[in-house]
Amino acid sequence: MDDEGREPLRAVEIMSNGSLDVKRVAVVGTGVIGASWAAYFLAHGLDVNATDPSPGAEDRLRDAVAQHWPTLVRFGLAEGASVDRLRFHDSLEDAVSVADFVQDNGPERMDFKIELFRRMDAAAPPETILASSSSGLAISGVQAGCAHPQRVVLGHPFNPPHLIPLVEVIGGEKTSAEAIDRTMAFYAAIGKRPIHVKREVKGHIANRLQAALWREAFHLVDEGVASVADIDTAIAHGPGLRWAVMGPFMNLHLSGGAGGIEHVLAHLGGPIEDWWKDLGAPSMTAALKQKVTEGVAEELGARRTADLEAARDTLLLDLIRAKADTGKLD
Ligand SMILES: NC(=O)c1ccc[n+]([C@@H]2O[C@H](COP(=O)([O-])OP(=O)(O)OC[C@H]3O[C@@H](n4cnc5c(N)ncnc54)[C@H](O)[C@@H]3O)[C@@H](O)[C@H]2O)c1
Repeated sequence: MDDEGREPLRAVEIMSNGSLDVKRVAVVGTGVIGASWAAYFLAHGLDVNATDPSPGAEDRLRDAVAQHWPTLVRFGLAEGASVDRLRFHDSLEDAVSVADFVQDNGPERMDFKIELFRRMDAAAPPETILASSSSGLAISGVQAGCAHPQRVVLGHPFNPPHLIPLVEVIGGEKTSAEAIDRTMAFYAAIGKRPIHVKREVKGHIANRLQAALWREAFHLVDEGVASVADIDTAIAHGPGLRWAVMGPFMNLHLSGGAGGIEHVLAHLGGPIEDWWKDLGAPSMTAALKQKVTEGVAEELGARRTADLEAARDTLLLDLIRAKADTGKLD
């Protein structure tokens, strides 16, 4: 039990088929995303082998982990979790050669990732999963130079990975179904909310959904239908509150009262289709960018961006914890 009476987090479980026994994770690339992943893995009682060739990377990583740690303590640490389990390796090969799971967070360039995965594939034990955090690269391309491409997957987190539970898991043309299952099971066992994206599509799932909303928001600004501030209010003080609790389909189901989704689709299906036909398809013209930039400055007013960021993170933390505690929203 911690100070607030919470049970410690469960450590990574060994699955019934015995295939998942992850004790040591290699974190390759320790910039913004890698450092956040490293802190998260450590908080779940794992050993972390980190590597990054950039000068001063080890000091920056240790500083970032120390900065994230109090938040992770608030969420609850797994038994045995410690920052002392972090080891920094100068050699990529040394970092991955004894890892049970590898999370790549290197630069987002296809040529770079192909070579990085070729080297990791040559050095890591053949049963070790090699996952990439890549936001936009096709994993079929990333696995191209590997001798064991079946264990290469995409495990796309949301920034910051030590806070946001979603991970999008995607296999490439040569990824095995077993590797997908083991990756999903690993992330789930350390408290993540993995989803399996069954086909490689640009932007995966969550960024496509965000892009759909931004598209209409930009269109409404372009057309002068509402100000930037009012559009933000429409989401942040309207449906956005519900979307943080449950997704668009479940919200729709609840809108149908006793009749649920079937009732909603019967009486709102037509109007929704009409709205779809009327949605905009704006272009990022210089004039539109200017309009949105000015609108954001007006909305921000005298507030400092850093203060807003801190307030967002505090609320986000409370929300994620409250959601986990409710336990009825899964
Ligand atoms: N920033 C985000 O919001 C975000 C969100 C989800 C996923 N991602 C993905 O995560 C990955 C990393 O993004 P980031 O924002 O942390 O970038 P970043 O620039 O902060 O970090 C990249 C790190 O890779 C290191 N690096 C360079 N060569 C390397 C090598 N040979 N071996 C190991 N490390 C090496 C760099 O020194 C740097 O520290 C990208 O693939 C990106 O698409 C980013």
